[in-house]
Amino acid sequence: MDRRDFLKSAAVGALSMSVATGAFGAERSYPVSVDPGLFESINRVKDPANKTPLEKSHAPFITAPAKVKAGEPFTVEVSIGENLHPMGPAHWIGFIELNVGNEPAGRVDFQPKGYLKPKATFTVVLPREAAPKGKVTLIAYQRCNLHGYWEGTRDIEVV
Ligand SMILES: [Fe+2]
Repeated sequence: MDRRDFLKSAAVGALSMSVATGAFGAERSYPVSVDPGLFESINRVKDPANKTPLEKSHAPFITAPAKVKAGEPFTVEVSIGENLHPMGPAHWIGFIELNVGNEPAGRVDFQPKGYLKPKATFTVVLPREAAPKGKVTLIAYQRCNLHGYWEGTRDIEVV
């Protein structure tokens, strides 16, 4: 086999391997029955005026002042969701993460025993640079072991 034939067969081999990996990767198996679609992207409330029961119990609900002063601490509470999500060994929230726009601010991890309710309180201080246009979006994420990744947002004014 000359060098050219070797390179051709190596390229074909690499291509068929990546096709096989891609096909295999598209099919996923889970230990319990879940909707795989909930784990493929971040879920959000589609129509805030008509939330589904799944959205009501999974979308992070952020409570924060509508207007804050730059450099002064304020309280942000994140609960999962409007109807507090259950916490137990078979169905639980793994974490709550708070972001200031695209910047991670903090995170609370939960264990499946159910000792804690899926709620976290953060004391936040925003420097003026965090809100160059006078407002900022707080973004909270959570992960449910059966219902995937969820996002909730709240815009606040920073003066
Ligand atoms: Fe859930």
